[in-house]
Amino acid sequence: MSEIVFDSVSHRFGERKVLHGIDLRITERRVGIIGSNGSGKSTLARMINGLLAPTSGTVTVDGVDAAKKGARVRRKVGFVFTDPDTQIVMPTVSEDLAFSLRRTGLSKGEVAARVEETLVRFGLHEHGEHPSHLLSGGQKQLLAIGAVLIRRPEVIIADEPTTLLDLRNARVVAEALDAMDQQVIVVTHQLALLESFERVIVIDDGAVAFDGAPDAAVPAYRESVG
Ligand SMILES: Nc1ncnc2c1ncn2[C@@H]1O[C@H](COP(=O)(O)OP(=O)(O)O)[C@@H](O)[C@H]1O
Ligand SMILES: [Mg+2]
Repeated sequence: MSEIVFDSVSHRFGERKVLHGIDLRITERRVGIIGSNGSGKSTLARMINGLLAPTSGTVTVDGVDAAKKGARVRRKVGFVFTDPDTQIVMPTVSEDLAFSLRRTGLSKGEVAARVEETLVRFGLHEHGEHPSHLLSGGQKQLLAIGAVLIRRPEVIIADEPTTLLDLRNARVVAEALDAMDQQVIVVTHQLALLESFERVIVIDDGAVAFDGAPDAAVPAYRESVG
């Protein structure tokens, strides 16, 4: 597992203080992040792979500063967004997966093999030549996850990956996350997803309100909501 460390992290957007005094050391394989809308979860998640730099403090992944060495950290840490449409860039499903491997130095044959393997893994084999935008919401999110996993990251950060999906598709995506060998950090409102997790962090008003086992985190979250 990678070691992700937040050291005295604060963040502001203009005058607005969004995170303050975040100290975390994450080494577990399955970690959930929960909290109300606007509490700072996405801000925190994005810092882990350098999509956002803290106003003060540092975030490191295995000792590498994510704000200073973003490209290096992003080779290790993949990010799945809430809306797969923001992540899908190429006209067809196979092209989109192959696009993830540009500038990796892999041969055409290696790229084709990984694309094939990813299509099969996510049940998209029959859709390789189809336009990405014609996939269902659930299939699009699986494609977006596949496009992250195809690069073989060690850590996956997923920011509300099931929020836009119906129940059935949310379950399919949750199962895909569950099946991963990688270390996974998920921001979610789908509390059932967290039952098997080792650790759940509750964010409230830009700070850590609870940090511990899922069966204790959910009551703490309910309490923080009041
Ligand atoms: N780019 C931005 N500019 C200004 N304010 C922002 C920006 N992104 C988020 N915020 C504000 O920061 C706060 C925390 O946002 P966010 O981390 O997205 O919360 P969450 O993911 O928990 O809903 C919210 O009040 C939000 O409106
Ligand atoms: Mg968010």
